[in-house]
Amino acid sequence: MLLFYFVPALLRCFMASLAMTTVKNITTDQSALLAFKAHIADPYSVLTKNWSVSYSVCSWVGISCGAHHHRVTALNLSSFNLRGTIPPHLGNLLYLMYLNISHNNFHGHLPNELRLLRRLKVFSFACNELSGNIPSWIGVLSKLQTLALYNNNLTDPIPNSLFNLSKLEDFALGNICSIPSSFYNISSLKMIRLSSNSLSGSLPNDLCNRLPSLEQLVLRSNGFFGQIPLSLSKCTQLQHLWLEHNKFTGRLPENIGNLSKLRSLVLGHKAHNSLHGMVLVFLRHICVMS
Ligand SMILES: *[C@@H]1O[C@H](CO)[C@@H](O)[C@H](O)[C@H]1NC(C)=O
Ligand SMILES: *[C@@H]1O[C@H](CO)[C@@H](O)[C@H](O)[C@H]1NC(C)=O
Ligand SMILES: *[C@@H]1O[C@H](CO)[C@@H](O)[C@H](O)[C@H]1NC(C)=O
Ligand SMILES: *[C@@H]1O[C@H](CO)[C@@H](O)[C@H](O)[C@H]1NC(C)=O
Ligand SMILES: *[C@@H]1O[C@H](CO)[C@@H](O)[C@H](O)[C@H]1NC(C)=O
Ligand SMILES: *[C@@H]1O[C@H](CO)[C@@H](O)[C@H](O)[C@H]1NC(C)=O
Ligand SMILES: *[C@@H]1O[C@H](CO)[C@@H](O)[C@H](O)[C@H]1NC(C)=O
Ligand SMILES: *[C@@H]1O[C@H](CO)[C@@H](O)[C@H](O)[C@H]1NC(C)=O
Repeated sequence: MLLFYFVPALLRCFMASLAMTTVKNITTDQSALLAFKAHIADPYSVLTKNWSVSYSVCSWVGISCGAHHHRVTALNLSSFNLRGTIPPHLGNLLYLMYLNISHNNFHGHLPNELRLLRRLKVFSFACNELSGNIPSWIGVLSKLQTLALYNNNLTDPIPNSLFNLSKLEDFALGNICSIPSSFYNISSLKMIRLSSNSLSGSLPNDLCNRLPSLEQLVLRSNGFFGQIPLSLSKCTQLQHLWLEHNKFTGRLPENIGNLSKLRSLVLGHKAHNSLHGMVLVFLRHICVMS
């Protein structure tokens, strides 16, 4: 009989001690960042003196903390000339919402531990030397709004899990050879930036029925062919349409002229895109480049 009272009490005690040992706070973030620093090369010593335990983590260069919970929420290390592989310790920065490591010299794979960063909204490793596949765990980062991985050596295919990212607005990739049709079903997309890939195929006719929020469509220097979708006039938010150095043919949809937010339209040289149409006369207010 005594056991019935005793066991739950023991269990509570055990749970409490478990909670004690797994408590996480800014010290957890500090350890993760110091481990990160220890694993990478920093030839210009950007972090060397600045990332020191003598100062609050939240005052370190490239770091921002949340106002309420005092945890690291942003890591902004773009163009710091850092090199090495991406250390797995970054996966301990559980409150991170903004991760921008672009324009450095990191090589190797994106570590699986980054899948733990479930609060991330911005994920950019653009302009590094990363290799391997585009990891499918990116699809579990369900809050992602910006995914930028261009100018790396990451390879096809785009994992299907990415099409589950229902908040994704800004998508920029490089080194890919194909776009599955379901890509155009991510209806939250505002910016598609896929310059200088090896993409071909045609754009779906119902592009703007599927992507009504589109603001930028940048597809320069690929092998797209076929007609520019007639549904383009339904992309009422469209501001930039850059299609040069592709193989588009046919008539430019006339009603492009009534896209009131369109600010730049780049169609390229006739030898690459053999488009024709009268639309351009309606586009006096925007910058048309070829
Ligand atoms: C963080 O938690 C540890 C226990 O896990 C504690 O020793 C440390 O003082 C805490 N640090 C801060 C800054 O609250
Ligand atoms: C670290 O860099 C930040 C941002 O540049 C600066 O505000 C801070 O004073 C620096 N800390 C030290 C100890 O130099
Ligand atoms: C990132 O840092 C740059 C300067 O290094 C600054 O201009 C920019 O506003 C920062 N962005 C964020 C989101 O902290
Ligand atoms: C990353 O930081 C650089 C430099 O501050 C900035 O130009 C770029 O837009 C940032 N990328 C993202 C995705 O915020
Ligand atoms: C990219 O990958 C290819 C093939 O694996 C390799 O030949 C090339 O050297 C890599 N480039 C960089 C910058 O890592
Ligand atoms: C997309 O999300 C659903 C629900 O969370 C999941 O069942 C499915 O496996 C995911 N698809 C992929 C390709 O990850
Ligand atoms: C994408 O949307 C089209 C129609 O808009 C639909 O037929 C297709 O099944 C969708 N694909 C996926 C993978 O959801
Ligand atoms: C744009 O103009 C076409 C006719 O050229 C018209 O059918 C269409 O409804 C207009 N679209 C918008 C969004 O005003």
